[in-house]
Amino acid sequence: MEEQFTLFPTDTELETPTEQTTSEGVESVSFRDLVPEIDDTGYLTHAVFAYPAKFIPQIVRYAINTYTKETDWIVDPFAGSGTVGVEAYLCKRNAVLFDLNLLLNHIMPLKIYSGKKPLNEADLFRRLATMQESNHRFIPDWSNVDYWYAPEILEVLSYYWGFVNNMDDDVFASIIKAALLKASKRFSNTEDRTPKLARSKRKLNAIAELLKENWREQLDEMVHSLSLKTLRSLKDFVMYTQQHYNENTPEIQWQGGVDSSYITVPRECDALITSPPYLQAQEYIRSTKMELFWLGHTEEEVRELSRLEIPYRKADRIVQTETLDKVREMLTRDDLCKRLDSYFCHTVNALENAMVQLKPNAAACIFVGNPRIDGIMVELWRILAEYFTERGWTFEKVYEDRIKTRKLFGARKNKNPDGMKSEFLLILRKRATCQTAALPRGPVLQDAAARAPDPKTFRDSDAS
Ligand SMILES: C[S@@+](CC[C@H](N)C(=O)[O-])C[C@H]1O[C@@H](n2cnc3c(N)ncnc32)[C@H](O)[C@@H]1O
Repeated sequence: MEEQFTLFPTDTELETPTEQTTSEGVESVSFRDLVPEIDDTGYLTHAVFAYPAKFIPQIVRYAINTYTKETDWIVDPFAGSGTVGVEAYLCKRNAVLFDLNLLLNHIMPLKIYSGKKPLNEADLFRRLATMQESNHRFIPDWSNVDYWYAPEILEVLSYYWGFVNNMDDDVFASIIKAALLKASKRFSNTEDRTPKLARSKRKLNAIAELLKENWREQLDEMVHSLSLKTLRSLKDFVMYTQQHYNENTPEIQWQGGVDSSYITVPRECDALITSPPYLQAQEYIRSTKMELFWLGHTEEEVRELSRLEIPYRKADRIVQTETLDKVREMLTRDDLCKRLDSYFCHTVNALENAMVQLKPNAAACIFVGNPRIDGIMVELWRILAEYFTERGWTFEKVYEDRIKTRKLFGARKNKNPDGMKSEFLLILRKRATCQTAALPRGPVLQDAAARAPDPKTFRDSDAS
């Protein structure tokens, strides 16, 4: 099974909780148990791309089955790698997806492939063979690319990428690119298992050893087998959808590279299903910049996007709720207070922008953890519930999915060595009289960038 970074990465063990609902409307569940028909988080096309903090599809499937019906429109303002889009498509729902990360634009056409081109393995092999003879070069617009690759590996990769980046924009090009993304990370100096770029002695030694071996064959073998695996996943996806649909295929719209705090959702929707970014720096753009550079995005583009990432931008308003105010009172560090303010301001702005387009009685399903900041627990679901109920939303319930262990990203020291204990799916219901109003903002990525404070982009301890 493909490695998948969930909010709580793969080594997370699940406890099977006893089913119970508390007086607060908290129901203990295991989403994996609730959706036994999905027994592999990477089934069909879900694992074609790696992405930090992916939803497990069981959560999305449960929310779709419980809170929407066929042909409904679902919105996800923090779509990441598009799990909601794939599940919506498979369940005959339509979806509109947004994310700051431009990867979404590369991921979705493959993950919900519905093209007519026959997916012949022989056609793929022919292209892979031609790639090995490539005489086009592509060097990413990345000033530190040499820091991340041994020169001989960079040379070969640059020819492979030169080939795919010059190929006609067809499904085979996308399949090979998806494989090359994984191979380009594996054959780089960065650790494979941490999303964030991290050059380690261990990995440098591994690369040095590899270079003494038949590394080129190993690289080709990896690209070949990943490409084939992706092609087969796409075939399975096409077969599954052809069996389940007649002529009405669902519509999935997406826009990567946009700031959801400022977008306007273009249509009324029947439900929101989303997982906002993590309160502590997860840095999705920074974690995926190697991929973005190889796909042809520039250092300037990546820098601009990093500036807009939650929670690195100054808050333009202070979100207040009873629980959040208590956290603020306990928090002594000014920098963390600013981060907290930024997080809630922009997360709530983005949610509100999307939720304002929900129809009366629609459900908003928001998946969050219970992070700690300076050792203080921040009950995200409760804070969001307080904020939105004050504005006329009904708190319906919250599902608690308990977990035993969680490994933090990287070897970060923190005051909570045990990590989080639970993930929560908060369900809010829109009343006809909700006060949540569209914020007076246009789809102004540039405007937002211009107003952004001195951002924490590229804090280059790793010279990335
Ligand atoms: C928890 S991840 C979502 C993962 C997604 N559910 C999936 O299954 O792949 C949160 C997402 O929020 C995005 N994000 C961060 N700041 C954003 C912003 N200002 N506007 C839109 N998206 C943003 C990140 O790029 C990241 O993909």
